[in-house]
Amino acid sequence: MTTIETLRWREPYLEMIDQRILPARFEYQAYDSAASTAEGIRNMVVRGAPAIGCAAAYGVALEARRLQRASFPDFEQGLEASFALLSASRPTAVNLFWALNRMRTKWNANRHQSPASVAQLLLHEAHEILAEDIRINRAMGALGADLLPDGARVLTHCNAGALATAGHGTALGVIRSAREVGKKISVIADETRPFLQGARLTAWEMVQENIPVTLITDNMAGFMMSRGEIDAVIVGTDRVAANADVANKIGTYMVAVLARRHNIPFYVACPLSTIDMTIPEGNAIPIEERAADEVTGYRDCQWAAQGVSVRNPAFDVTPAELVTALITEKCVVNQPDRAKLLKLMKQS
Ligand code: MRU
Repeated sequence: MTTIETLRWREPYLEMIDQRILPARFEYQAYDSAASTAEGIRNMVVRGAPAIGCAAAYGVALEARRLQRASFPDFEQGLEASFALLSASRPTAVNLFWALNRMRTKWNANRHQSPASVAQLLLHEAHEILAEDIRINRAMGALGADLLPDGARVLTHCNAGALATAGHGTALGVIRSAREVGKKISVIADETRPFLQGARLTAWEMVQENIPVTLITDNMAGFMMSRGEIDAVIVGTDRVAANADVANKIGTYMVAVLARRHNIPFYVACPLSTIDMTIPEGNAIPIEERAADEVTGYRDCQWAAQGVSVRNPAFDVTPAELVTALITEKCVVNQPDRAKLLKLMKQS
């Protein structure tokens, strides 16, 4: 069982593993306000859709605590500003907005209470969101584990592990759960340019738990598939549109196309909080563009010609037709489409 605590409450701080410096160093950063938490999300101390949602919830709770002795108008104004700040931290992962909505619902239902009581209730809600996320990941893991044959070699892209969630992970949660029931699953991790979530984070998580992992660069996946060395693909997602198109880390679409070409199942581990029925189809999902220096080099080492123009979309969209199944905490949705998602979300 994983013991990685991506986010933890250490009174009076939220602490988050600094994912920018893993695997070289394992360090927590402490947060005491919405502004600092929003900055931690923006600069990728914490990343991964569910983890970003948890962090945003704590960001609101921290701000409420910071202002709990203020007058009601100041408290209200400060809290509203924290919602605005956190909403603007990253645009693609819908879990951020989902978690902020949960916090807003709690706040709206308790406006008549004192700021100190509201602050307590909001902190409790953030703890709930975190605990729920682990339960959801375990439920998805159990359902997804059944899909993997014993001995499967599973390709994953980016990091959808414990580090991307409150614990256990979504895509890596399926792999962990399959191993827990005795299946000899091994992992092939795409390096995941430009931020290297696969090389730095997925590989580290798997090595921590002695789960066999082989690291490849992103352009090797087609070769591995053509040689019969990959049996399944599992990825996470940042937002699923109402027609079941899937936004995930840049490069996922390429992997899905390759998987279809080689008749390899392409699974998406997807908590219900990642399905956005307000977005009709994938091309309406906002895609974050990040700084050019992530593409022209890494940290202090810059290798591209100075002045070159760069594109750096952080996510892409895989059309629903390439998705073999969505693995949710409730059920596995085979060949997902608009009608199936509508039914699923109505029942939830
Ligand atoms: O830019 P990141 O590292 O936040 O992107 C993360 C991903 O794309 C993950 O695959 C996704 O959030 C699912 S995490 C369970």
